[in-house]
Amino acid sequence: MSIVINSPLDMHLHLRDDDMLKVVAPLSATSFSGAIIMPNLIPPITTKNKLIAYRKRVIDASKDSSFNPYMTLFFKPTYSKEFLSKVKDEISAIKLYPAGITTNSEGGVSGFDIKELKNTLNAMSELNIPLAIHGETNGFVMDREAEFASIYEMLALNFPNLKIIMEHITTKESVALLDRFDNLYATITLHHLLITLDDVAGGMLQPHLFCKPIAKRPEDRASLREVAFKAHPKVMFGSDSAPHPQDKKEASFCSAGVFTAPITLQLLTELFLENSNLDNLQKFISTNAQNIYNIEVPKKEVILEERDFIVPTKYGDIVPLYAGEKIKYSIKEIIC
Ligand code: NCD
Ligand code: ZN
Repeated sequence: MSIVINSPLDMHLHLRDDDMLKVVAPLSATSFSGAIIMPNLIPPITTKNKLIAYRKRVIDASKDSSFNPYMTLFFKPTYSKEFLSKVKDEISAIKLYPAGITTNSEGGVSGFDIKELKNTLNAMSELNIPLAIHGETNGFVMDREAEFASIYEMLALNFPNLKIIMEHITTKESVALLDRFDNLYATITLHHLLITLDDVAGGMLQPHLFCKPIAKRPEDRASLREVAFKAHPKVMFGSDSAPHPQDKKEASFCSAGVFTAPITLQLLTELFLENSNLDNLQKFISTNAQNIYNIEVPKKEVILEERDFIVPTKYGDIVPLYAGEKIKYSIKEIIC
């Protein structure tokens, strides 16, 4: 039996830069129609020139003309309406990181003082630029996302015309927010649908499963699975595939990030066929995102089949999720 996915989209993707970009970009570009590209480079993407130059490097590395990189800027509360008007056509969203909360986020926002944020957020509302947020406080690691709920509420209430995307949600509290505020949306990763904290730290420590936000409890995963499998219209797939070199993962001070890009479609197919259906996978992985972001996407047909695929142990010097293991589905053909 062949399974067809049309124009898949990855609404949260880290492609990095330089040599690593060249390794990882084609892995997403060949099988996806587009992706929201994260701006947390060193230094982050904060100017129009950097954005345009990075977009070109992404396109050059992608080697697939039917892949659309949807670029993002790294949020700064100093962005003026004049600056945003000039950059608007080059971006699909602006990504807000709380300062120091995850990889390369040191230049992010400290404190969430509405007086400090309001000029930029009002300008984004008026210009219709979505705000994507890494929603974690600096509290106890398991509670960070739940604690951030009050900030999501404050932003949703004060900026009712701003589209706010809760990135990579991991808790039942975040799922509950979706139906409380019209302007809140969410991305969900593959790994948070698959694992809980037990998989990361319940036995021998698994550095390749360590990411921010950390995987949570079984009941949180159940809540994520419920909205994903029914393809709630306000949720979309965002892999948060976040490659780091092997020596930065298998180390003291292990970097946060799970590298899933090469196997996302195969594993999502398996998960949805076992727990939901192909129609809902199509919505979760493409249609919902097209509606939420209001984007047209390049046509691409990905055909998968039930055939074992042994996940390579490495791509360059990056170890993927389930390295060396056998998974059930393979990509058979991609038609552009
Ligand atoms: C991401 C990275 O490595 O850039 N890491 C992660 O654990 N998810 C950043 C992020 O999205 O938090
Ligand atoms: Zn991310």
